[in-house]
Amino acid sequence: MGDLVAAVDHGTTSTRFMVFDHGGHVVAGAQVEHRQILPRPGWVEHDPVEIWNNTVQVIEKVMADTGLGPRDLAALGVANQRETTVVWNRRTGRPYGNAVVWQDTRTDALVGALASDDRGRLVRHRTGLPPATYFSGAKLRWILDNVPDARRDAEAGDAVFGTLDTWLLWNLTGGVDGGVHATDVTNASRTMLMDLETLDWDDELLAVFDVPRSVLPEIRSSAVPDGHGLTTATGPLKGPVPLTAVLGDQQAAMVGQLCLAPGDAKNTYGTGNFLLLNTGTTLVRSDHGLLSTVCYRFGDEPPVYALEGSIAATGAAVQWLRDQMGIIRDAAEIEALARQVPDTGGACFVPAFSGLFAPHWRPDARGALVGLTRFSHKGHLARATLEAICHQSRDVAEAMEKDSGVKLTVLKVDGGVTANDLCMQIQADLLGVPVSRPVVAETTALGAAYAAGLAAGHWTSTTELRDNWHEDRRWLPERSDEHRAAARDEWHRAVARALDWVEM
Ligand code: G3P
Repeated sequence: MGDLVAAVDHGTTSTRFMVFDHGGHVVAGAQVEHRQILPRPGWVEHDPVEIWNNTVQVIEKVMADTGLGPRDLAALGVANQRETTVVWNRRTGRPYGNAVVWQDTRTDALVGALASDDRGRLVRHRTGLPPATYFSGAKLRWILDNVPDARRDAEAGDAVFGTLDTWLLWNLTGGVDGGVHATDVTNASRTMLMDLETLDWDDELLAVFDVPRSVLPEIRSSAVPDGHGLTTATGPLKGPVPLTAVLGDQQAAMVGQLCLAPGDAKNTYGTGNFLLLNTGTTLVRSDHGLLSTVCYRFGDEPPVYALEGSIAATGAAVQWLRDQMGIIRDAAEIEALARQVPDTGGACFVPAFSGLFAPHWRPDARGALVGLTRFSHKGHLARATLEAICHQSRDVAEAMEKDSGVKLTVLKVDGGVTANDLCMQIQADLLGVPVSRPVVAETTALGAAYAAGLAAGHWTSTTELRDNWHEDRRWLPERSDEHRAAARDEWHRAVARALDWVEM
């Protein structure tokens, strides 16, 4: 058996391949961004072929740069952006158009209609999710109803559905030559099609979304000793590596942060922010705008559940400053720009680009930039963007405290934006509790590797992994309660504008 474990971490903006040693240290990695395709207001698409080609590219680069071969790898794990929906033809391997991304709001009319009647109650109860454009069910229906031939081929058994884990698993295990068509419970729990208690596709939900069962992948545990399949000699690893774990990226980050006991929580700062609280084998239902979701399931053990606060646009707001506004050239520049000013000068920015997710669940909300004067400049906007990331995280942290009754004493963080020291200081200031970042901030890839390595017997137990977690840096709150209260009041007033915009 090889000494190393690898992971593909396919996120909303980029795909990474990383190799870890037994101590959880990064041995090698490569990353490449893919295009964000924005055809109309509210629509967000990705090209599945580009994503697969990028996956091949990053794997081949790492293997070539390090001289590693498939025999050096004990196992491979996959973590992925969740909910994003692809339909492809299992005979040709070709997708029926672009993937519809989790941020896309094209299904708001469909979701709005079902949210207001009994179907909404059914969805909430069976899936633990509020009816929202965020999840896959309505996106899949949209593709089947709108893309030529998709429904006909689905009914004939030729067109198949997957979230990105399924698309990558199918391609990594051979594609048209016998690729495995499967998903894991964490990804399936985001489709609005799976019963959160039975962990199986639900016929009533399939009827609500008019989805034929024949398109759906098999639902499996997140980590399986027998493997989800083997990579192939014709694929980028050029030989067989057992693919033993598949998890949605936020759940993978829970494993990477070793949030494996009830009460453990982490906040990942990616394209969006995702605060998850491990609730153990108890399925806790939210009264405050959070989701109930599967955290992970290892082999035949009972599933572990989580409460989740999902925020649609955090890192995406930084990218927006870069790509749409041209205010910064790369994402890291936002910190220096925001440091030019001591505060936002009264400006407040609510980046509700995909509506507002937790705790509001309002697809009709739209971005708002308020409090401007002629004094305002791009430094203020940069700082207001960082504050928006942190205010939204505080909103979901408050909801989580109300749902769980557990007071947050420290926030474990990870993800790209946590490299921004100013942002993390603002987060501690707005939360009023310390913020703690681990040495390995790539916890998503690490978590997929841990799950894969545990399933393959590379690590014997999660106890063995605990020694691998080390704090890199901790930020302590520096602002007064009065300052925090005033900032929160301003934020709430700005959010009210974003929520009211469509009706005004
Ligand atoms: O639910 C969407 C989430 O999985 C996306 O994560 O890291 O790509 O922003 P990320």
